[in-house]
Amino acid sequence: MMTVKHSHNLYLAPLRGVTIRAFRDAFYEPLQEAGFIGAFAPFIPANPGIRPNASLLKDLLPHNENDKNWQLVPQVISKDAPSMRVLLRAFKDAGFSRADLNAGCPFPMIRKRLRGSGLMKTPDVLEELINAGCEEMGEGNFSVKVRLGISSTDELCSLMPIFNRYPLACLTVHARTALQMYEGDVHFDKFEEILSLSKNEVMYNGDVQLEKDTFRTFIPSHPEAIEKMNIKSVMIGRNFIRSIGERHDAKDLLKRYLELSIAELNGDNPVLGRMKELLTYWLHVPKWKRLWPVIKISRTIEEFKTLI
Ligand SMILES: Cc1cc2nc3c(=O)[nH]c(=O)nc-3n(C[C@H](O)[C@H](O)[C@H](O)COP(=O)(O)O)c2cc1C
Repeated sequence: MMTVKHSHNLYLAPLRGVTIRAFRDAFYEPLQEAGFIGAFAPFIPANPGIRPNASLLKDLLPHNENDKNWQLVPQVISKDAPSMRVLLRAFKDAGFSRADLNAGCPFPMIRKRLRGSGLMKTPDVLEELINAGCEEMGEGNFSVKVRLGISSTDELCSLMPIFNRYPLACLTVHARTALQMYEGDVHFDKFEEILSLSKNEVMYNGDVQLEKDTFRTFIPSHPEAIEKMNIKSVMIGRNFIRSIGERHDAKDLLKRYLELSIAELNGDNPVLGRMKELLTYWLHVPKWKRLWPVIKISRTIEEFKTLI
């Protein structure tokens, strides 16, 4: 297996329901081959009254993550510092020395309850969480993932003094507003402004693609941007997930994902739901597009197996 060395550190983005443990495990080789050095795990909620039990933490159980060169960073979503501290301690007990705060989730249900990107509306709560995170995890071991704003690309700029007061591992910026959700232009100029304002390392996120075969990173709408930027790390989500569907061994990898999911989940429906969710990322590939109408209506794991 050839592995590329990037001029930047490459991290897999957290996608809830997609880049889960079975995914990170089944597609570990493609991740390695493309040069990823780690992944941020999808968010785990920390709310008053919820104890971080084994089931809440099961996505973090070690697999390939025993690999010393591979870093898994658990992520928390919260608006309550005491509850977040409890979860961060559970992360530490499970052997993690790094953690990330989700301050970017754009879904209205989350945002309107002032969690995820909604934290941008309550700077005091945001700061309380950052302070608690840095205290619990220690200097340089806590990071925050944000967007440029909720409705305007200027909002993050005005929050920078808060982030700058703390020694973060990094600030990951998805260069969109929350109202944009996952579509529309990334605001590269605003990202650069954040970069110039930040005392912490800034990691770029949003629409980064890996060039086929060479795995060079680029942003289609700003092809030269990554090389030009003064950044150490880049986070990639959807375009990596899409690229797996283009591989000649996609079917075998999918079978491995299926087997790991069968072992983890109970019953056909949750397993099929997971497979179908992944396949929605592969519909640009003619083979998967052709199969999709029958896969979409498959009802049992056995049926699904015969279709792929
Ligand atoms: C289905 C889905 C689930 C996501 N779940 C999370 C999450 O748990 N935590 C998080 O910080 N971001 C989450 N994101 C955002 C991604 O991490 C990333 O910021 C976004 O997809 C943009 O990067 P990309 O263009 O490389 O995919 C999610 C995105 C999608 C589409």
